[in-house]
Amino acid sequence: MSAEIGSDIHGKPLVASDVKNTLGEGPFWDSQIRALFWVDIIESKIYKMKEGRLEVSDAPALVSSISKNADGGYIITAGNAIYSWNGSTFIKLCSIDESGTRFNDAKCGPDGGLWAGTMDLEQHRAIGNLYRVGRDLKPEKVLSMLTISNGLGWSPEGTVMYHADTPKGCVFAYDFNDGKLANRRIAFRFKENEGLPDGLCIDEEGCIWVAHYGGGRVSRWASDGRKLGEILFPTKNITSVAFGGDDLDVLFVTSARYGLESPDAAAGALFKLKPGVHGIENYTFGRR
Ligand code: BGC
Ligand code: CA
Repeated sequence: MSAEIGSDIHGKPLVASDVKNTLGEGPFWDSQIRALFWVDIIESKIYKMKEGRLEVSDAPALVSSISKNADGGYIITAGNAIYSWNGSTFIKLCSIDESGTRFNDAKCGPDGGLWAGTMDLEQHRAIGNLYRVGRDLKPEKVLSMLTISNGLGWSPEGTVMYHADTPKGCVFAYDFNDGKLANRRIAFRFKENEGLPDGLCIDEEGCIWVAHYGGGRVSRWASDGRKLGEILFPTKNITSVAFGGDDLDVLFVTSARYGLESPDAAAGALFKLKPGVHGIENYTFGRR
């Protein structure tokens, strides 16, 4: 199963790379070098795909996200620590004082901070937190009592932040002002038999694209909470979504074999599709 980006893929997911990830996560488009990065958290690997060529790098244990660093290179979350990475060497920058958890989804925000959440390794205790890490590299706890912190994204104007605590089954919205959160509300809620909210990203129209872990789909929601549509995938554990491609018109979607009793043929693949709308640029660590 493999296919190149073609004109026939509007709205229909194709396998971009049949990597059979155990826990594929954290897709991130680097527009400077026109490459897609993502991670396999459980296998502790970073993937890079550029013009169809795949590179796999060993990373610190339980690597969970990758973002750009204004100082050059990348910022990585892994285990309970944050590292810089220049493509070959990892340097530990700071860590958090937690036990029984690991970093999960993390992304840079419009404030130039890294917003990094943690999750319970056993996936049921509310012992996770969301941190903001600024240039001083001192993690500041912003939200607590989370079970599985997931799904970060910002509205195109940077004034609303979206976040999920997966087992709660909904995505929350916060007013976002200079790195401060206020006015938490439910942005939208998944139906019970449609899986749980995992990674998310925002398009140029301010709509929210969310991965349904256990629900085999990606859905698109308006900022007022209306569900606008969904795309079905040939495997259940869809983990995260990100726009990429030269015009940010390709939606890349990661998936997991993890959690499936007998993983189907498509499980763990990286998918892509052209949804007919463009994404917005990622933010960079240390740059406003
Ligand atoms: C986590 C997984 C978890 C999944 C669904 C992912 O972000 O990395 O460990 O099972 O969300 O909750
Ligand atoms: Ca996730």
